[in-house]
Amino acid sequence: MNYLIAVNKQNPLPPDWGRQIRTIHFTNCVGDDVEVEEKAYKAYLKLKEKLEDEGIFVDLDSALRSISAQQKIVDDFTQKYGNDYTAKTVARPGYSEHHTGLALDLVLIVDGKIIYENEDLVRYPEIWKRIHELITEYGFILRYPNGKEHITGYAYEPWHIRYLDDVDIARRIMTEGVTLEEYLGLVKDSDPKIDYGDSKLYTKQQIYEAIVRVKCQLAFWKGVELQSIRYAGDGCLNEENLKWLNSISKGKKYSGIIELLCDFHTSAEDCGTLEADHEYKDHQWWLACEKDGDFDIVTFGY
Ligand code: DAL
Ligand code: ZN
Repeated sequence: MNYLIAVNKQNPLPPDWGRQIRTIHFTNCVGDDVEVEEKAYKAYLKLKEKLEDEGIFVDLDSALRSISAQQKIVDDFTQKYGNDYTAKTVARPGYSEHHTGLALDLVLIVDGKIIYENEDLVRYPEIWKRIHELITEYGFILRYPNGKEHITGYAYEPWHIRYLDDVDIARRIMTEGVTLEEYLGLVKDSDPKIDYGDSKLYTKQQIYEAIVRVKCQLAFWKGVELQSIRYAGDGCLNEENLKWLNSISKGKKYSGIIELLCDFHTSAEDCGTLEADHEYKDHQWWLACEKDGDFDIVTFGY
């Protein structure tokens, strides 16, 4: 059995997977039955013990999921949070790593209280930091890291860890800060061309961060293949543009604007609100920041 299998937005679960794995069942702290691949479960128990020694308490919310269980999550999330958030956080049935039994969603128990909703879990960055430092020693990696959304296609999920059955590989992936896709060489060389331009207003790092934000956002757009992304020049930052942005910004006081231009192609399939099988050229993105703040995407289009 291949513990390094990549099931992601491009690669569905192989049809014979169920015959290859051995699983165990246990009852979690809220009384739900959780099924996990056997070795992943044993490694998890050791990790849990180590965490408890440090005063960190975790349990498993979900591990192996059937196609119908995944469909139920998609339906519940769509109803609760809408399509966009669901596409960023929940895999299509058949394309979830949870089908392998090797992906584990942790919940935290803080001061005796079980924390399991995504929006609550992200409020404990210090606890996650320590957990992520320890997981490699038990053969796990963080599967959806922050800043890698353009590669994984999913938003940061501190709770979702993945068993690889190989401490050295896990260690390498985590110390190099790469994704499983990058480690396995699944990221195509057709990565978009990037042009940082020549700005007198912003550092290359600021432009890089703005570019990453746009790339992450585009990774969530169905059927989009980004070809190039470039800094459009300093001309965008002027009184008139700032006045307009601040008039629509609900109380924010923007002082900086970065304009990026993207070229991308859409596939022949359904591409949501975009035209299918189309070349988009100079698609415009504006990011704005308040004094000393981060750049947020404020508008895009033509
Ligand atoms: N939350 C991960 C992406 C899944 O649904 O498989
Ligand atoms: Zn998960």
